[in-house]
Amino acid sequence: MADHQVEPHVFVIIGATGDLTRRKLLPALYYLRNQGALETRNTMIVGAATSAMSETDFRAWALEGLRQADCGNEEELRVWCEECLHYQTLHGGGPENYEALALYIRQVERTHKMPENRVFYLALPPDVVPVAMERLDQVSLLKSHGWIRVVFEKPFGHDFPSARHLNTTLHQYIDESQIYRIDHYLGKETVQNLLAFRFANPIFESLWNRNIIENVQITVAEDLGMEHRGGYYDQAGAFRDMLQNHLTQLMTVVAMEVPVSFDAASIQAERLKVLHSIAPIKHEDAVFGQYTAWEIAGQKIPGYREEFGVPGDSTTETYVALKAEIHNWRWKGIPFYLRTGKRFPRKVTQIAVNFREAPTQVFRSLEPGSIAHNQLLIMLQPNEGFSLCFSVKNPGRPFRLSDHALQFDYGKSFGPLPEAYQTLLRDVMVGDQTLFVSADFTETAWRLYAPLLTGERALHFYTAGTWGPSEADALLEKNGHRWGLGW
Ligand code: BG6
Repeated sequence: MADHQVEPHVFVIIGATGDLTRRKLLPALYYLRNQGALETRNTMIVGAATSAMSETDFRAWALEGLRQADCGNEEELRVWCEECLHYQTLHGGGPENYEALALYIRQVERTHKMPENRVFYLALPPDVVPVAMERLDQVSLLKSHGWIRVVFEKPFGHDFPSARHLNTTLHQYIDESQIYRIDHYLGKETVQNLLAFRFANPIFESLWNRNIIENVQITVAEDLGMEHRGGYYDQAGAFRDMLQNHLTQLMTVVAMEVPVSFDAASIQAERLKVLHSIAPIKHEDAVFGQYTAWEIAGQKIPGYREEFGVPGDSTTETYVALKAEIHNWRWKGIPFYLRTGKRFPRKVTQIAVNFREAPTQVFRSLEPGSIAHNQLLIMLQPNEGFSLCFSVKNPGRPFRLSDHALQFDYGKSFGPLPEAYQTLLRDVMVGDQTLFVSADFTETAWRLYAPLLTGERALHFYTAGTWGPSEADALLEKNGHRWGLGW
């Protein structure tokens, strides 16, 4: 991952008046500037959207977002908005509107004596992305004497053919080296630290294989429900919204081989090899669930079908769990269990690496179950850090064992961690694709999961506020395993 300086450029957000811009992009851009990663005169931000907003209104709207995100001193925020934020309306989004945008961007570049380096961040619904690319191309904004980089948000298609079609469309205008597909999980500090943990600490590398590890569990649990996103979510479901991308990325980072060097191409290639090694996933190794209402002491949590924007007979899954097997030398025979869903009892993202039992049990005379399996927990949120669990003798007699952990807490050691978007936006600005998703990766992931996304499948119901349907427990019990959560 490169530590280059950010070169002067214009950062254009198309679809700039949405929630993503206000809650994530602008705070991240402001923090980057505050940490000295961006000099004010180096980065000019141009928002463009169909809303007929004036530049003054856009700045006021952005300032309110920065205030809500508690980004800093009011006066400094205001000065930054005045100096760095610009706005150009796209009205109906026709060719003439993009012509006006091109004129505007070139004027900003001239006024600030900037080279023609441009980032285009497409904060747009997927169906309008191809049109936006065509328009940008028509007005020659995608060609310049500097560099051009284009950032896309998921979903990258909804199945293999649509992902392939999208990639082919993008490649008509720009090449893969200019494309930055964001999966914000890859920008999380703890995910990046997994690379350091694995490849800078040889003691773990020698344990990281099927001889020592019994299974790996990746849990991304959310306590929230639909939060007004029912319309989008009902088309996607937990599989497309979370598992095909975020959990799959986590699995590949845990399972990848040592890259030949620490650059984007080598790391991306290793992640992709993991995907290629996954055996076809059987229908009986996937469980789909949907939450139902929950009521206690007069407090009611609606069921999924009662959420705003969700049809009353929806069969969309809000929970998915599956078992994947990576058929390579390191992992053959070791299950990777993935699960994610909405309306769990709490928000927690963690990777549990469960080690095998000792080959002979010296302490077999102790109570059954009193000896813990060694477990490494990698906490992604909340309480980012690691915990390595092992058995310890309790003081005195009788001879008893209990589980304890060696812990590393990121927050205690380093204070608050940067938001994923700060990391990812800076990487775009310096041209580092390590933490982004390649066209091959998205297509391979869709191809892998295609059989599970089509055809008949059973939907199991679980009560909101629980850990999902019992069928997901049975998925592990078949192999003598149990879902485990630490901390
Ligand atoms: C998004 C999904 O990609 O990730 C949301 O669309 C989900 O449904 C979110 O809530 C979870 O992100 P995080 O960083 O809060 O775990």
